Amino acid sequence: MAVQRQTLAFGVFSSHLVLAVAALVVFAVLIRAIYQGLTGPTARLPGTLISRWTDLPVRVRTLLSTRAQYVHSLHEKYGPVIRLGPNDVDVSDVDAAREIHRVRDPFLKSEFYGPGGRIQSMFSTRDPQFHSQRRRLLGPYFSEASLNAFEDKVAGLVQAAVDGILSESKRTGCADILKWWTLMAMDVIADLTFGESFGMVSSGEKTQFAEDVGKLGSILPLRTAFPIIFALGPYLSFIPFFHEIATSRERILKVQQKRVARFMELVEADDSARSKSVFGALVKKSKETDLAPMDLIIEAQSFITAGTDTTAVTLTYLIWAVCQDSKVKQNLLRELTDLPEDFKNNDLKALPYLNNVIDEALRCYGAAPGSLPRVVPPAGASLAEHTIPGGVVVSTQAYSLHRDGNIFETPEKFDPSRWENPSKSMLNASMPFGIGPRGCVGIHLARMELRLATAKFFRAAPNVRISTKEDMSNSDMDPTISFLLMPKGHRCLVEV
Ligand code: HEM
Repeated sequence: MAVQRQTLAFGVFSSHLVLAVAALVVFAVLIRAIYQGLTGPTARLPGTLISRWTDLPVRVRTLLSTRAQYVHSLHEKYGPVIRLGPNDVDVSDVDAAREIHRVRDPFLKSEFYGPGGRIQSMFSTRDPQFHSQRRRLLGPYFSEASLNAFEDKVAGLVQAAVDGILSESKRTGCADILKWWTLMAMDVIADLTFGESFGMVSSGEKTQFAEDVGKLGSILPLRTAFPIIFALGPYLSFIPFFHEIATSRERILKVQQKRVARFMELVEADDSARSKSVFGALVKKSKETDLAPMDLIIEAQSFITAGTDTTAVTLTYLIWAVCQDSKVKQNLLRELTDLPEDFKNNDLKALPYLNNVIDEALRCYGAAPGSLPRVVPPAGASLAEHTIPGGVVVSTQAYSLHRDGNIFETPEKFDPSRWENPSKSMLNASMPFGIGPRGCVGIHLARMELRLATAKFFRAAPNVRISTKEDMSNSDMDPTISFLLMPKGHRCLVEV
């Protein structure tokens, strides 16, 4: 009996001991977390209380594609430098942004661009040496001078898209300009890279390939917000969502493999084919070095992704914004009327109002307004009067820089006339294509497409208006922003 009582007492004692140890551990973890939140690398910066311990609120906004707007609201509350999480900061200060993206002492791209650095392209690489080699190789093909040789092809595809919009609108009562500009931009980049478009503008339909690219784009919010789930994707292919993603990926790979193989054959048969496309340079390189066909596929895919929705979405918003304001539209039409029938990109470069409309569209609706995350170099940095330790991820977002009320008067207004005499600070704050060594290599191509498409479209459809058919309304154009901007309704219907 006494032994039983002793055993019972020991049992009670030991379960109390376990509870006490557990409580102590929880207490220690809590104290450590509180301490880290109070003393961590971003602890001294302004920001929400919770961001001392977690970046979860930002991740949730990323998932909902409202991160840029959320971060902007934090800037309005806390100032130009804000803490987003224990290791994440966003900066909305022009000088600091230029410092972050300048050439010297680079702030390297963060893990966001290529978790683990497994897949490297000019866009995604975090290795400065890899990047400068690729950029030296490919950059010259995207200079204004080189693109002149390509202008007729771009103009032809733009014209075909405009014709497609007109005939679709006549046939069905309205046409989706976002769809048409996407077909056009993807055909342009396909032609430029491999000397052969996908033929989508002429068919008026997205190919399975384009659908698959769109599908991969649509998972970007999830990939950015919770990369761990995305990384587990290959092991979760029994779940239909992940299965569909894996299938899209495989189909994209097969199409690109075929295109690379065909291009290699073309170049073997006729060496002049090499000079007709950007990838001629990479094919040559692949023979001289260890550049494998897979490198070409990865690079080609990266160009398609970087050069399609960006141009298509900016152009769609430009037309939508012009249609909202009859004065802006009249000014633009008046300037376009005097163009010769066979006008060229060079004629368009000389039109002040057209270029002001494009600059204003890029300010308000440039398609890459979200965070461009970089890592602070090991020595740390002093940005906008704040010291930020090395290793912290520091982002800038054009969405906020372009809406700085101290620089742009009535920033929410679409007002092309603000670019008639821009101040130095307006020019410095304007970064729709990024800046510095990692700035957009496609800037001249994009501007050429924007000019040609705007001019050809409004000349062909001067009476265009935004449709209300199929329940189209301005709420379809509400911006959703993950990394890229996309209208909420994924469409913009017009009647011409
Ligand atoms: C209106 C259209 C466009 C916008 C607003 C835009 C915007 C941008 C921005 C902001 C960046 C910097 C990204 C970062 O730092 O994370 C970038 C980079 C890049 N863009 Fe564009 N882009 C456009 C069109 C194009 C086109 C047509 C191409 C195709 C040639 C292209 C290819 C690239 C590439 C390859 C990079 C990476 C450059 C590098 O890291 O060296 N973009 N773009």
